[in-house]
Amino acid sequence: MNDFSGKVVVITGAGSGMGRSMVAEFVSRGAKVAALGRTLSKLNDSVDIAGGRSSCLAIEMNVSDEPHVVQVINRVIEVWGQIDILINNAGILDTYAPAHEVSLAEWEEVISTNLTGPFLMSKYAIPHMLKAGQGAIINIASISSISAAGGGSAYTASKHGVQGLMKQLCFEYGQQGIRVNEICPGATATPMAMPQTKSAHSPDMEAAVAAVPARRWCDPSEIAKLAAFLASDDASYIHGSSYVIDGGWLTAARDAF
Ligand SMILES: NC(=O)c1ccc[n+]([C@@H]2O[C@H](COP(=O)([O-])OP(=O)(O)OC[C@H]3O[C@@H](n4cnc5c(N)ncnc54)[C@H](O)[C@@H]3O)[C@@H](O)[C@H]2O)c1
Repeated sequence: MNDFSGKVVVITGAGSGMGRSMVAEFVSRGAKVAALGRTLSKLNDSVDIAGGRSSCLAIEMNVSDEPHVVQVINRVIEVWGQIDILINNAGILDTYAPAHEVSLAEWEEVISTNLTGPFLMSKYAIPHMLKAGQGAIINIASISSISAAGGGSAYTASKHGVQGLMKQLCFEYGQQGIRVNEICPGATATPMAMPQTKSAHSPDMEAAVAAVPARRWCDPSEIAKLAAFLASDDASYIHGSSYVIDGGWLTAARDAF
């Protein structure tokens, strides 16, 4: 198991789903974790579940709000003096409505959360990684970074954009010791993908999952383990890569949806 003692990990969207699992995974491996997200009580729950009161900072913030991002990065530096790993995980799904029915407000909210958020977090974390001469950034993208139908136009465009951002950051900072990669999950059992978050246009996710070769949902802990690997020295030559973790969904896309 990789040891993250002495490492500082910043995780956005840490109050639920994959973010919550990643807080637990990195705490169990000895990291100090800044758990960021929109609702402090949920962040505190994630920290408690991880048993991480002495090794975590829970900070309420909005990833698409530049002053919030600046404040949060400054706070992490003030407390721990370094940022080794940034995981851009916060994200929202759209309504899956066809493009001609999507409001500009919906489009802008999804793009600002899913794409502007990772840009801002990276922009303000990178100078600290450059100073240290090392760092790892992991974006939680999606199979929607690669194909259509995993969301509506805003979600798919935002996740394709996140992949472009990952590639450009890899190109700009790889030679300075910063590795940038992404994880592309398929159907993962988190609040985002659960039936209560369905809109009128949502696909039947249970049917989609039944058609995936693995025949089950991904557990968020499986995403967290991949994130820990990509953040570790075991992944030292991995730059600019997309790791699909979808139970075979894309391979068998003919049957999905
Ligand atoms: N669940 C899936 O099937 C699936 C599949 C592919 C990709 N993803 C991606 O995985 C990531 C994690 O999602 P999840 O499935 O754990 O869902 P989730 O809804 O449980 O987690 C998303 C978290 O992001 C937070 N968040 C949203 N907007 C934010 C903002 N502006 N500022 C700060 N925090 C914000 C939410 O409060 C929430 O805690 C997302 O980027 C999502 O797009 C999910």
